[in-house]
Amino acid sequence: MKRAFRRVTNLLPALSFNDLTPTHFGYRPWQASDRELEIQSFNMKANPLIDTAHALVANGKGLLAMDESTRTCDQRFAKLGIPQTAEMRRAYRELIVTAPGLNESIGGAILFDETIRQSTGAGVPLVQVLADAGIIPGIKVDLGAKDLAGYAGEKITEGLDGLRARLKEYGGLGARFAKWRAVIAVSDDLPSRSGLEANAHALARYAALCQEAGLVPIVEPEVLMDGAHTLERCLRVSEEALRNVFIQLNCQRVQLDGIILKPNMVLAGLAYPRQPTLDEVADATVACLLRTVPAAVPAVAFLSGGQPAELASARLNAMNARFKSRAPWALSFSFARAIQQPASDIWRGDPANVAAAQQALTHRARCNLAARRGEYSGAMETRTSPEKQ
Ligand code: 13P
Repeated sequence: MKRAFRRVTNLLPALSFNDLTPTHFGYRPWQASDRELEIQSFNMKANPLIDTAHALVANGKGLLAMDESTRTCDQRFAKLGIPQTAEMRRAYRELIVTAPGLNESIGGAILFDETIRQSTGAGVPLVQVLADAGIIPGIKVDLGAKDLAGYAGEKITEGLDGLRARLKEYGGLGARFAKWRAVIAVSDDLPSRSGLEANAHALARYAALCQEAGLVPIVEPEVLMDGAHTLERCLRVSEEALRNVFIQLNCQRVQLDGIILKPNMVLAGLAYPRQPTLDEVADATVACLLRTVPAAVPAVAFLSGGQPAELASARLNAMNARFKSRAPWALSFSFARAIQQPASDIWRGDPANVAAAQQALTHRARCNLAARRGEYSGAMETRTSPEKQ
């Protein structure tokens, strides 16, 4: 364990900055005035946010993202031949929240606007089903990533207008945390410094509004896997993205012990010919986080980003097996596809498949619980696991 940690820290001076464009450098220094410091230490006294942030990942649990927008959910249904209706989306989300034993591995579930207003066939609000199972309900509040004007190939996430009122409504509907996703594309020229700054600023404005409303913000800057870039390039871009995010979070006076960071794992682009080993991903990801994420942040809950479900578990496991005892934050998960996909493949909209789909869902959640402990192995993916039947 100690040797692995030394290898990560040894990596630091060895890396070259050559693959970043010059525009990635040159931050404005920011210093708090005495008055500002007084306000910040006063804010430290409000702590329900900290309790919620810790509860979300307590006992080795992680988050289940089930917040696909109607469009994304319908696209996935279309591929499986499932009718794209509000009723089918409701039935699918009911299948998820009523999966027996889900609460053993899942501490919080992120819902979409449509879902937080829906109920089971028996009329129980889905939020209530979650809360009764001890799973904390959360809500996606961004309105999606749109083209960033003036910056071809880059996106900016929208949804700040009216957010204060929406957060109040979602709190009333039972949400205790929220999610906002920024999308960062990688190429030889991207991302631009302006793109990183604009997205980090929006994430920080969102996070401050969440904390004002008593909701824990999940802060999600996602560096995409699409492309032919190297692991080192992803490492550099992820570092730069996270550095911008924490500068802006501090500027907006976000209480860092009352957030959860939801980053990408550091990976080579999908089209890069040599995919890294589990240990290389673990080393690069933890090195990136150690350089950028303050120890005050309670948890890092990774997105899966389209990785195969078993690989996402194996990579999370490698991080925890090598660094868990030394990392200042919990290394957890907030997967959507890497938990749901085997289940939706089994369900295909047929009520007769609900029980098998639920088993597949809880199996993946359990595999990730084991990965949080560094105890996952391929042996968990046996013939008896439902998605292999
Ligand atoms: P994936 O795990 O499928 O990447 O989804 C996570 C998520 O919440 C995307 O915003």
